[in-house]
Amino acid sequence: MSKRIQYHQYGGPEVMRLEDFDPGRPGPGQVLVRVRAASTNPMDAEIRRGSLKMMTGRNFPRGLGHDFAGVVEAVGEGVTRFRVGDEVLGGADPKASGAFAELVVADQEAVVDKPAALSFEAAATLPVAAVTAYQALLKKGRLKPGESVFVTGCLGAVGRTAVQIARAHGVSVSGSCRSTAMAEARQLGVAPIVDFDFDPAKLAGRFDLVLIAGGALSAKAARTMLKRGGRIVDIKPTPAKFVRSALPGPFQVMIAKVDREDLAEVARAAGAGTIQLAVNRTVPLAEAIPALTELEQRRTPSGGKLIITT
Ligand SMILES: NC(=O)c1ccc[n+]([C@@H]2O[C@H](COP(=O)([O-])OP(=O)(O)OC[C@H]3O[C@@H](n4cnc5c(N)ncnc54)[C@H](OP(=O)(O)O)[C@@H]3O)[C@@H](O)[C@H]2O)c1
Repeated sequence: MSKRIQYHQYGGPEVMRLEDFDPGRPGPGQVLVRVRAASTNPMDAEIRRGSLKMMTGRNFPRGLGHDFAGVVEAVGEGVTRFRVGDEVLGGADPKASGAFAELVVADQEAVVDKPAALSFEAAATLPVAAVTAYQALLKKGRLKPGESVFVTGCLGAVGRTAVQIARAHGVSVSGSCRSTAMAEARQLGVAPIVDFDFDPAKLAGRFDLVLIAGGALSAKAARTMLKRGGRIVDIKPTPAKFVRSALPGPFQVMIAKVDREDLAEVARAAGAGTIQLAVNRTVPLAEAIPALTELEQRRTPSGGKLIITT
């Protein structure tokens, strides 16, 4: 038996419980990992509220959390890339497990080796945010060295990683952030920096890519900011955006895909110091439910990831 945060029905923060859970033996292609650190993403609460229940189904109890770093405890049939004792990072199998736990089950394709230079806490910040930024910029956005990108919400988890990946790729980065945080964005190399309420017309025709990673920016507004041949990538999907995305034009909406090579690439970059996410708070698993509740109810700037340690 191990402990995990789970819920027995979709709902608000009040449905979370820290309870015993037996993850069992890992199945074929799966690894069982002793979690050392897990990190939060906005999608954790969205899934728990039932916003995606068409995809997440009605099997309860469900574990909570996706991103983790830890040590391999057991491997399932057909797993050749990992051995017991390996230090890894990855994403929980959403049907079987949850990362806010002592033990988590993950598909081996969602797990990579943790670079030795990276702490478990830093490694746990990466899977969703950094892979999303990587895929949005370099795959969907087809960003090339010498180009320019504008990132909305450039100090959020995805936004901040996007800034770092883009700059390391030889791309000039501009972006929006809260007016009180502009000095921090400047330190990251973002220029020019504008407020959340910026006027897109003042940035007309300047960017090869607009990445909508924080707040909302209409496709029309983003379009005015593009150079000829420019692209827009929006990571906040809605049905209407998928319809627009299917039409010819620069707008694309994106849901990040589990991709072992992309995760390994961002882990390597983090190990080399190129990617570093902000951590706002670290709490032990036993104190995580109040911290998660506070994070969700807070209306003030996030200031970085909440990390849960075991
Ligand atoms: N499609 C996908 O696969 C995918 C993957 C990951 C994330 N997402 C989504 O992408 C979004 C960002 O995720 P995240 O992990 O980066 O979240 P996050 O760390 O909470 O960052 C959100 C950022 O948006 C900023 N923001 C708030 N109001 C804004 C506004 N009006 N204009 C511009 N920025 C604003 C926030 O600033 P303050 O902190 O100052 O308020 C914060 O920096 C979330 O909606 C998440 O669900 C989608």
